[in-house]
Amino acid sequence: MSPARRALPLVGLVGLAAILVARPLPSGAQPPPGATVTPGALQTAPATPEDPQVAQGRYLAVVGDCEGCHDRPGGTPYAGGLPLRTPFGTIYSANLTQDRETGIGAWTADDFWNAMHKGVRRDGAKLYPAFPYPYFTHITRAESDALYAYFRTIAPVSYRPPANKLPFPLNLRFMVGFWNALYFKVDDHPSTGPSPGRHIVEGLGHCGACHTPKTFLGGDKNDHALEGGQLDNWAAPAINSDVRRGLGSWSSAEIAEYLKTGRNARANASASMADVVRYSTSLMNDADLAAIGDDLRGRPSHAGPVNTSLKPDPKLMARGEAIYVDECATCHAVDGKAQPGLFPPLPGAGVTQSTDPTTVIRFILSGTQTVATNARPTPFAMPSFGWKLTDDEVAAVATYVRNSWGNVAPAVGPSEVGKLRGKVGKPIQKPSARV
Ligand code: HEC
Ligand code: HEC
Ligand code: HEC
Repeated sequence: MSPARRALPLVGLVGLAAILVARPLPSGAQPPPGATVTPGALQTAPATPEDPQVAQGRYLAVVGDCEGCHDRPGGTPYAGGLPLRTPFGTIYSANLTQDRETGIGAWTADDFWNAMHKGVRRDGAKLYPAFPYPYFTHITRAESDALYAYFRTIAPVSYRPPANKLPFPLNLRFMVGFWNALYFKVDDHPSTGPSPGRHIVEGLGHCGACHTPKTFLGGDKNDHALEGGQLDNWAAPAINSDVRRGLGSWSSAEIAEYLKTGRNARANASASMADVVRYSTSLMNDADLAAIGDDLRGRPSHAGPVNTSLKPDPKLMARGEAIYVDECATCHAVDGKAQPGLFPPLPGAGVTQSTDPTTVIRFILSGTQTVATNARPTPFAMPSFGWKLTDDEVAAVATYVRNSWGNVAPAVGPSEVGKLRGKVGKPIQKPSARV
């Protein structure tokens, strides 16, 4: 075998890591204040009672966030075609309607089970792990059959998603086999145990897709489950019992409130969590949300204690404080306590103190908007500062909020800000320079 041929699987695997970090492009469109937020799954809910298996499948589709990836802006629900962005190219979600040619209308319950359980398509080709089968493999056959029964009720829509834009050799589906050998294990005995919360978090809910750190090839670091990961230039914080960086100080009821309404007295949901809340957790039942809360609170952290004696340079802190008072205190208040439930308090906040500062930097550069839900239809927004603050200034104010009011987290450097700005922001335009 020539060296080039031998290198192929490795190059491909590295590329697959990028495919794994695929996430839907933000749908962007937020409903206007006061609008009801109703994804298609509920819009299509029949007025008359439906077959219990179909009803169960409809609910499981919510738990699995199927619409979050299989709806494209302006398209019919479940017709697919949402572009999932990767640094190497784009993968499009599949059409899950009953169209026999372009959707899954010709699929049997066994075909569907093979996709969910093994990541294999009806024609035997391997599916890319941008489809979260490494988590879905934990669902039971009865759950798969209920989902199948529900998808049988989705009216056919003839729509073929665009061809994936992947370079050779990533366009070859058999390459996924190498990745599967390393990182995917078919669950031979899927069950709803040991607890309902764990079954959702590790299975259909696929929370680890974002919240679990990844190996350099994009596989889950399973011994660090839910300790915080990065996907598509968002850092998803730890959601375990870590008191400073995770949910150790949250009650199960507070976790459930965040997932149901998109906010609570401690934090607001936006970034890539917004679609998870919009299409999935805000529509889950209270028992399941409580079970998720119980599971997350019971999760150990292996991250080690934070070195609280680490103090950033006082000059940097003073600079950060001046910017904070000018630009941020109107909403977050000088003491950082803000308006819980409207603007999130910064003292003690997990996202703010996350070891990986990506989300904090990105909020400051690009601004963000809290997800609107039926329970909390008015979305609050944080403006972008990328157009007026330099990389130095963003680094200073980020370091300041991460190390004030009892917070402790590694200082942020201007080069980290510059790198992220290059990926997600516009270059700074500063006619009237602030110095
Ligand atoms: C994180 C995004 C994401 C989520 C969530 C998701 N899917 Fe998908 N799904 C995809 C992508 C991307 C593909 C196409 C993969 C490929 O082409 O290899 C896909 C493909 C599929 C396929 C194969 C269809 C075909 O014709 O090849 C099935 C079946 C499927 N998804 C079912 C589901 C169900 C059921 C749910 C919810 C329980 C779900 N998906 C949730 C991204 C997602
Ligand atoms: C697509 C990526 C993604 C998935 C999937 C995801 N999350 Fe998140 N999650 C995030 C990001 C990013 C944040 C930070 C959001 C913010 O601060 O606005 C977050 C924040 C959270 C928070 C608040 C943490 C804090 O300290 O403020 C909780 C709780 C949470 N997620 C739970 C879950 C659960 C439970 C699941 C699975 C059902 C899940 N997430 C799935 C990306 C994700
Ligand atoms: C107009 C009001 C407003 C202003 C001004 C503002 N923010 Fe925010 N901020 C928000 C809102 C709303 C959120 C919640 C976003 C979400 O849904 O995650 C937020 C979230 C944050 C978070 C994440 C908190 C967490 O842990 O979940 C940080 C950090 C932050 N802001 C820092 C800043 C800094 C630094 C500035 C000044 C450069 C600033 N904010 C200015 C409204 C504001």
